[in-house]
Amino acid sequence: MEIQAVKGTHDLIGKDALKMSYVESVFSAVATLYGYQEIRLPIIEHASLFNHGTGEGSDVVRKEMYTFNDKGGRLLALRPEFTADVVRAIISNKLYAKNDLPLRYFYHGPAFRYERPQAGRYREFNQFGIEAIGLDHPMLDVEVILMAVQAFTMLGFEHPIVYLNSLGDEETRKKYREALISYFEPLLPDMCEDCHERFKINPLRMLDCKVPSDHELALKAPKLRDYLSEESQKRLELARKVLEEEGIEYRIDEQLVRGLDYYGEVVFEIQVENQGNRLALGGGGHYGKMVKELGGPDLAGVGFAIGLERVMDAMEKEGLFANLDDSLDLYLFPLGKEALAKTPSLALRMRALGYSTLFPYEETKLSTLFKKAEKAKARYGLIYGENELKNGTVQLRDLKNQAQKEIAFADLEETLDHLLLDEEESHEH
Ligand code: HAM
Repeated sequence: MEIQAVKGTHDLIGKDALKMSYVESVFSAVATLYGYQEIRLPIIEHASLFNHGTGEGSDVVRKEMYTFNDKGGRLLALRPEFTADVVRAIISNKLYAKNDLPLRYFYHGPAFRYERPQAGRYREFNQFGIEAIGLDHPMLDVEVILMAVQAFTMLGFEHPIVYLNSLGDEETRKKYREALISYFEPLLPDMCEDCHERFKINPLRMLDCKVPSDHELALKAPKLRDYLSEESQKRLELARKVLEEEGIEYRIDEQLVRGLDYYGEVVFEIQVENQGNRLALGGGGHYGKMVKELGGPDLAGVGFAIGLERVMDAMEKEGLFANLDDSLDLYLFPLGKEALAKTPSLALRMRALGYSTLFPYEETKLSTLFKKAEKAKARYGLIYGENELKNGTVQLRDLKNQAQKEIAFADLEETLDHLLLDEEESHEH
């Protein structure tokens, strides 16, 4: 019986896994530049964490969350996102009492949403993200955006565009909610079932509806900008000003309300344009109340997350993985029994020197060895038989251009060092 992979999941093998590690490593390196430390968290949490933290008004919690009862009868969930997870860890470990604020953490790993799988949308996908918690300062919001843009630029994206909006403070949202209720109430009979639900729980979510006729109505709804308090306006202005000063492309997008319930004040998405389509690679924003609502002190937070698969897809389309090297340094070509007998210890030496090395375990024809070396993506071959062993030499073969020269065994390390180091440098440029 052949067992299929679960719908909406995908395997990452070899170079694809390397691509994801590469994107993670660039984002992690940039986060480190901004003083963030890594945090690794459980994938399973109590479902109530996401009900209260991520928010029952969001589709992610209401319709897409993977929940199950464990054998002890606890209702658990596979995390649909990390922000509530991070906040829970900060509270459980009282990190706010032990460290200077804001706390700054970055994370990466799988998240789960029961969505309809399609291009760039999975049920198990991977995120990289950051959270800064414990300081309610507009500059911190902007710094999070700047960090995201810096990482995208380092990956090679030429025009990451920041879409920016403000959801305002609590008072703003309260007034705006009332305005939305008055606007949508008479329209409700013609709207989709989900919007009926959203109307009850969080009418702001109705602005996000993808049903075309509902979307039309949402476009004509009262604008949040008309309800923004002076403070919230100033906050948004500061973000605009800094982005302008730093020459970062941004657009104000009044329809941007984000899909999760916890946001207030500045929210943003980072998109790249791909063949005329806007593609959201990541998003985030400010959240004022989650820490308190989950039983911690009254601390605000701000953060963002990217979808690693989406970023990888976009990089693939723009050819940004061209320099990613998954080659093997060396393949050993022992010719004859005596040479084969010496091979495992030669491989051991080469690996100890730091060269990735493979070799055949049995006597093998030269032509087959070439095929094996090619499949292993080997960069250089070391060919040696009776003669070379006698003379203390080896044939060093460049497997790209097939140039070959005999060198003394004693010079091998130095020669390889030069060759492979030069190549690494040329990759970096
Ligand atoms: P989010 O917008 O729900 O935000 O997800 C962030 C990113 O994850 C999206 O922009 C998208 O690239 C990716 N993503 C979401 N769902 C899927 C899926 N089904 N398949 C593939 N990729 C997906 C959050 O999760 C917030 N926690 C971000 C945040 C952090 N806000 C504050 N701090």
